[in-house]
Formats: sequence, C-alpha cells, structure tokens
Amino acid sequence: MKSFLPLVTLVCLLFDPAQANDQDDGIIHGSCKRAADGDPNISYKFCVACFEAKRVSQPANIEDLTLASINLTISNATDVSSCISKLLQNKSLGHFARDCLMTCSKLYSDAYSILRGVVDDLGSRDYDTANVDVSAAMDAAVTCEDGFKEREGLASPLTKENDMFFQMNAISLAFIEMLRRN
Ligand SMILES: *[C@@H]1O[C@H](CO)[C@@H](O)[C@H](O)[C@H]1NC(C)=O
Ligand SMILES: *[C@@H]1O[C@H](CO)[C@@H](O)[C@H](O)[C@H]1NC(C)=O
Ligand SMILES: *[C@@H]1O[C@H](CO)[C@@H](O)[C@H](O)[C@H]1NC(C)=O
Ligand SMILES: *[C@@H]1O[C@H](CO)[C@@H](O)[C@H](O)[C@H]1NC(C)=O
Repeated sequence: MKSFLPLVTLVCLLFDPAQANDQDDGIIHGSCKRAADGDPNISYKFCVACFEAKRVSQPANIEDLTLASINLTISNATDVSSCISKLLQNKSLGHFARDCLMTCSKLYSDAYSILRGVVDDLGSRDYDTANVDVSAAMDAAVTCEDGFKEREGLASPLTKENDMFFQMNAISLAFIEMLRRN
C-alpha cells in the first residue's frame, strides 16, 4: 500500500490544479494565480490561456515568463495594427470613425515601439522603467477605446482588441512586480 499514496497525490494534482501550491503547479499557473489575486482586471483563465498557447515555450522562471509576456504583447500590438488597417479599408466609414481609427493606429504603433524597449529594460533589470513603459503601452488601449465614446451612436470596432491588449499589459505589470520582489 505504501506506493499508493504518491499516486493519489499525483491524481489530485492533475484533477484539481486550483488546490495545488505554486511550486507543484508550474510557473505559469502559479504566477497567473498571483497576478489575478492581486489585480481584479486580470482573469486567471485568460492569463493561463495566453501562455499555454502552442507558440510559447514553457518558461523556466518568472524572468522568462515576463519576457514571454512582453513578446506576446508585442505581437498582439502588430495583430491589432493589421486589424485597424483592414478596418480603414472600408470606404463607407465616416470622418469621425476614420479619425478614431487613425489615432488608434498611431497609438498601437507607438505601443509596439515602447514594448520593444521593455525587453531592454528587463535585460538591465530596470524594473521602474519597465513599469512606466508597460503602463504607457497599456494606456494606448484605453485612449483608443475612449476616442470612440466621444461621439454618441458610434460603437468601437476594437473593444475586444483593446480589452485584451489592456489585460495582457496588466499581466506584464504584475509579473514585473514579482520579478522586482524575486
Ligand atoms: C483596473 O483597471 C482600471 C481601468 O479600467 C484602472 O483604473 C484600475 O486602476 C485597474 N486596477 C488595478 C488594480 O490595476
Ligand atoms: C522573446 O522574443 C525574442 C525575439 O523575438 C526571442 O529571442 C526570445 O527568445 C523571446 N523570449 C521568450 C521568453 O519568449
Ligand atoms: C491579439 O490581437 C488579435 C487581433 O486584434 C486578437 O484577435 C487576439 O485575440 C488578441 N489576443 C491574443 C491573446 O492574442
Ligand atoms: C463599413 O462602415 C460602415 C459605416 O460605419 C458600416 O456600417 C459597415 O458595416 C462597414 N463595413 C465593413 C465590412 O466593416
């Protein structure tokens, strides 16, 4: 019977990851849980889903995970930019909607450049600058979304994209704070 207990423990871990502690749970689950616990804007499920996507290699530590988070956010900024370019091809857009989209395009292109700089901030362990930069990138999503609210009856075509980009940056910020305290 002696060998039975470890198996039961393993089975419990597999079927109830929420009850496992950070170490047993792996860096992604543990860090996403801490991030979600500390910030109501972060969904644990969204966070885990971001890093369990196939294109992300399994991070070894919080440093790796933070870099992976920045990388993901950089590529999302590119995705949102091409989404905006497609929307701008619409010939029946009104002036106001077109202006809003042009502003968003500029915001996301700036956010892309800023986030590229964060990779260097992290390399030199400059967590203060990393925090300021990621916060600035995050603001792009808020400013873009707010632009559409200025005219009644105009729905933002980028709400989902802005929400995701905001949350991805919130996750990076949480990871940067963990890295600082590491
Ligand atoms: C959550 O997001 C809102 C903006 O949507 C922001 O004002 C607030 O500070 C955020 N909360 C945290 C804990 O970062
Ligand atoms: C982040 O992206 C850079 C350049 O694209 C790559 O060299 C690096 O391995 C990536 N890091 C992680 C942790 O994904
Ligand atoms: C990133 O951007 C694209 C395009 O706007 C979006 O559809 C996608 O769901 C976003 N989020 C993630 C986590 O890749
Ligand atoms: C193009 O813009 C018009 C006006 O905003 C909108 O009604 C229409 O759905 C858009 N078409 C496409 C394909 O997005």
